[in-house]
Amino acid sequence: MGSRIVATGRALPRTSVTNHDLARIVDTSDEWVRTRTGIERRYVMATGESLVDIAAEASTTALARAGIKPDELDAIIVGTVSSEYGFPSFACQLQHRLGLDSIPAFDVAAACSGFVYALSVADNAMRAGDYARVLLVGTDALSTMVDWNDRAVSVLFGDGAGAAVMVSEPGPRGVLASLLRSSGEYWHLLSVRSTGVRATLDSEARRSPEDAIKMKGPELFKLAVRSIADVTLKVAERAGVRMEDIALVVPHQANIRILNAVADRLGLPRDRLFTNIDHYGNTSAASVPIALDEALEARRIRDNDLVMLNACGGGLTWGANLLRW
Ligand code: ACO
Repeated sequence: MGSRIVATGRALPRTSVTNHDLARIVDTSDEWVRTRTGIERRYVMATGESLVDIAAEASTTALARAGIKPDELDAIIVGTVSSEYGFPSFACQLQHRLGLDSIPAFDVAAACSGFVYALSVADNAMRAGDYARVLLVGTDALSTMVDWNDRAVSVLFGDGAGAAVMVSEPGPRGVLASLLRSSGEYWHLLSVRSTGVRATLDSEARRSPEDAIKMKGPELFKLAVRSIADVTLKVAERAGVRMEDIALVVPHQANIRILNAVADRLGLPRDRLFTNIDHYGNTSAASVPIALDEALEARRIRDNDLVMLNACGGGLTWGANLLRW
């Protein structure tokens, strides 16, 4: 028995912020952000908005498209580092918001690799026969964890949620292989001391530099390109698939220059990697499921296509999943 994604959904905060908007509060320019990152705008949380509500909206869309009622789920697994609480987990809060009870609900914390990690965890549990229907969510709100004066970091991140419904299923379609990797040695390249949605862009509250995301961008850039390309090739090899047979790569959207460099390393045309970073920025664990949802909507993925998901993020964590759609 394997597992297959049967439907997806996405939801965003109400507020969209362009580079021009940011240039009014941070020492930056639209030109710099666009050319260095590919980002043109991003959605950010506002005071009073709840990331759990946004994740619930994405989940409800995915469940409706799957034709599965919330009470038919066997588990909720959330890739996130943005729970407002140390505990309970984000997944338990989402479970409550969806009106569910008693099924297991838990978070997988792997920063930007959260969805790729959570998908692998779900697939393994479903193969073992533990669950038949899983709600998988990737959601983060890193815009609420930046020091807005740190222009090298604050312009990069956006907020949102993506959801996928997975069902266990025999047959050739579904998850073919996954590979997860971590290297704690590089923990200091991207870190934040305390998480939680506490300082939205429109609020008075501000994160102090000590409590904000700290990042060594150029070092991360090089490691991200190398690790994403490497794990992608290994997963394809593990599944006995040639790179050129992959119809679409749906990568974590960190920086358009990272994605282009990964495409070049994989020997793929750049448009074989789906990109939507211009609209969303880096939404951390939400970026792969949001991109997957948009790729499906744009009909970039057809039944039986080979689809590769991959990501790299704080930890350092990285990984990839190969699916036959
Ligand atoms: N606006 C204007 N100038 C800026 C800005 C800004 N927002 N940010 C930095 N600069 C300046 C710097 O101060 C520096 O100026 P200097 O030369 O006078 O000192 C100059 O631009 C170049 O800075 P670099 O950091 O070398 O710029 P780089 O080309 O490496 O781009 C970036 C920085 C975009 C952060 C890049 O390194 C990157 O994307 N790294 C990966 C980071 C990432 O994606 N992190 C997210 C999580 S990890 C992951 O998802 C893979």
